[in-house]
Amino acid sequence: MHPKVILITGCSSGIGKSLSLSLNNIGHKVYATARNVKTLADLAEKSIYTFQLDVSIDDDIDRVVQLIIKTEGRIDILINNAGYGLIGPIVEIPDEEIKHQFDTNLFGPLKLINKIVPVMKSNGNGVIVNIGSISGLATTPFSGAYCATKAALHSISDALRMELFPFGIKVVTVQPGGIKTNFGSAASKTVERIFKSDSIYSKLEKEIKARAEISQLNATSLESFTIKLVDKILQKNPPSIIRMGNRSISLPFLRFFLPTKLYDKIMMNKFGLSKLKLEN
Ligand SMILES: NC(=O)c1ccc[n+]([C@@H]2O[C@H](COP(=O)([O-])OP(=O)(O)OC[C@H]3O[C@@H](n4cnc5c(N)ncnc54)[C@H](OP(=O)(O)O)[C@@H]3O)[C@@H](O)[C@H]2O)c1
Repeated sequence: MHPKVILITGCSSGIGKSLSLSLNNIGHKVYATARNVKTLADLAEKSIYTFQLDVSIDDDIDRVVQLIIKTEGRIDILINNAGYGLIGPIVEIPDEEIKHQFDTNLFGPLKLINKIVPVMKSNGNGVIVNIGSISGLATTPFSGAYCATKAALHSISDALRMELFPFGIKVVTVQPGGIKTNFGSAASKTVERIFKSDSIYSKLEKEIKARAEISQLNATSLESFTIKLVDKILQKNPPSIIRMGNRSISLPFLRFFLPTKLYDKIMMNKFGLSKLKLEN
């Protein structure tokens, strides 16, 4: 097997770390990156190349991409994995939080793609894997900012898949359901930052906190998700869209097949908004 050069973002935990370990185990050259390089020490011990990279910082992207191209002359697979869920009522999220959410989940991945496409094009092949979410297919209350970033990432991936096809570059969109990672605890930290006691949704504090953790209820094991994902990404002709994990079929199904008013009603009941309306 010819080892592939693979760049992965957001490898301090969860899907990024797990993909790094799996791809390294089967002999590929993995460049694992994270905001804090110390969180990659366990990967470095396994001879994975580790670098500091915050996807919301242009200079970090330039530095790491240049370094890999200088060393390897190519990047075969880019996995845009880094991301987090910003949870809170849309009208109460500060602008800079929304901006940072888009910088991390959408514009960072896009900058990486723009940097890497020229080298993939000159090699006549490459695979770009964008980790989206079922949240980009079915919006739930108090996660509008996160859902918007993932819906936008899906659309950009769709366009790129067609636009890059003539150059031999394949684009894969992964739309996970709930996978057991640190995603819920990272999302809960955003609620702690944003949610204030004088919120117009103060009575729904419990529901908003529950939204941050919801992906982790009955979540699919990270190991089984990673095994299947690695297998699909490495296929000669990888699938265009990969949907796996808890609720990855049922939630989009509800959104596409129920009338919007009924879908909204179910979600408003689930997240306490119907109760709030009755009390006002
Ligand atoms: N787990 C799920 O149920 C689920 C479902 C659908 C989609 N996803 C998506 O899967 C991807 C991976 O998430 P996960 O579930 O593995 O959660 P996770 O364990 O929280 O991992 C997220 C990773 O993204 C990193 N990250 C956040 N902001 C970053 C930035 N500005 N620059 C570089 N890295 C950054 C985190 O690093 P720090 O440690 O520095 O914060 C962490 O390494 C995300 O895009 C997420 O939206 C997850």
